[in-house]
Amino acid sequence: ATDMGTDLKEVLLTEEQIGTTLDELAAHIDADYAGKDVLLVGVLKGAVMVMADLSRRLHTPLTMDWMAVSSYGSGTKSSGVVRILKDLDTDIDGRHVLIAEDIIDSGLTLSWLLANLRSRNPASVEVATLLRKPDAAKVDVDVRYVGFDVPSEFVVGYGLDYDGRYRNLPFVGTLAEHVYQR
Ligand code: PRP
Ligand code: MN
Ligand code: MG
Repeated sequence: ATDMGTDLKEVLLTEEQIGTTLDELAAHIDADYAGKDVLLVGVLKGAVMVMADLSRRLHTPLTMDWMAVSSYGSGTKSSGVVRILKDLDTDIDGRHVLIAEDIIDSGLTLSWLLANLRSRNPASVEVATLLRKPDAAKVDVDVRYVGFDVPSEFVVGYGLDYDGRYRNLPFVGTLAEHVYQR
């Protein structure tokens, strides 16, 4: 069983802080994409909250699509070798694609995804992420919209999981060590 009260170490970002930052990101995106039609691509499953809350703040005309990818390799670290579990339903040729992510950790998932989507001849591809960890800097990916830079700790909530859990927390918190050491 899990206990939200004792499984968390601390609240890193409150629901209110996330909302304020999404307001700012949405304003930037609206300004940058003025007059353009956007395809917002959510990366399942972590990006569901960002997709829902960011898209509702945008005024630029958009459609939404989803991809599900899985990183090969064991454990919690991604290997950079990615497999598509669910591809886009949309032909992105000539489209302005904006990828929505919950977090960029090693950056390997995103690096692969960007190369994959760019090969499909879109008009543009950019990335909006709520969170970014320090390791992401090691991979040369240009992330235009970043909500928060967070430390290299185990963060959960607002879409982010540990073993599938805690995605539904409305805030972002750090996980207590006893949870991942058992
Ligand atoms: C997490 C997160 C990002 C990715 C970042 O997804 O949602 O998509 O890892 O890691 P990286 O920068 O080291 O590649 P995960 O693979 O856990 O799948 P999920 O979204 O279904 O939780
Ligand atoms: Mn993910
Ligand atoms: Mg995950």
